[in-house]
Amino acid sequence: LEAKVFVTRRLPIELEELRSLVTVEVWPERQPPPYEILREKVQEIDGLLCLLTDQIDRQLIESGKLKVISQMAVGYDNIDIAAATARQIPVGHTPGVLTDATADFAWALLMAAARRVVEADRFTRAGLWQTWEPDLLLGPNVTGATLGIVGFGRIGQAIARRAKGFEMQILYTSRQRCNPELEQSLGVEFATLEHLLQESDFVTLHTPSTDDTYHLISDRQFELMKRSAILINTARGTIVDPDSLYRALTSGQIAAAAVDVTEPEPIPSDSLLLTLDNLIIAPHIGSASRQTRSKMATMAIANLIAGLRGDRLAYCVNPEIYQ
Ligand code: GLV
Ligand code: GLV
Repeated sequence: LEAKVFVTRRLPIELEELRSLVTVEVWPERQPPPYEILREKVQEIDGLLCLLTDQIDRQLIESGKLKVISQMAVGYDNIDIAAATARQIPVGHTPGVLTDATADFAWALLMAAARRVVEADRFTRAGLWQTWEPDLLLGPNVTGATLGIVGFGRIGQAIARRAKGFEMQILYTSRQRCNPELEQSLGVEFATLEHLLQESDFVTLHTPSTDDTYHLISDRQFELMKRSAILINTARGTIVDPDSLYRALTSGQIAAAAVDVTEPEPIPSDSLLLTLDNLIIAPHIGSASRQTRSKMATMAIANLIAGLRGDRLAYCVNPEIYQ
């Protein structure tokens, strides 16, 4: 293949196969390549393998001669898909392989927030563990509680499967109600967002970041939630208004939250959210199991090679370009 590709970070797998096919340049730094560097690179490459930290906007897409954009992530809100589609550039992503890892991590956050695992560790390390206490670090039951799942794609459904083992009442909301057989086998009940927020002990977010989900959870939604409720966000930071989250956590509107994503990312070092004990913040590591990251990289490379060959991408965000 007579082609050049740019990979915007070192990947957790060997690139021999790719290197045997095309000319590969890998950005060697820990920080993402600055936008100006991406602008320069797209002038000379055929394929781009990028991450969710790279802003692939219209200007960038239109200034190059890209044949394929392959993102190593399931989400692709950092890419101007319409601009790529207008230029007939296929955009690849990595759905499916990270569903369970991400659901596992959402579950870890849910359990950690409910049973105050992070606070407990800080407490112990601060030398405060002096005796067994009847009321030390109490939290709500997880088993038997009501769970609200916002967004019911692959990851939302994987959450429902976990919740079933915890004998939870499971409500979900999504643009499209799923079929009754699936609802029954997962043991879930369709609800409006409003009803779900009012009823749930735990609310977990699994929608993509779109214009429709921007600040989907803000003041009004926190007001609907139980004062004992716990919010989990492993989807995208933009879905929750960070100022509303701060108000809800400090005014007792909800009990606690645990997030793997923030707006912006990384969270600014002066963010007041960092001062809260009833908030757990992880650095966007939902898919970070070794096996999953390696599968994501493999899939992103397969998409990249398919695009360079002019073949249909196995996991394409804009398949309408093939019509
Ligand atoms: C991670 O957030 C992803 O979209 O894969
Ligand atoms: C992402 O993979 C989703 O559809 O939930």
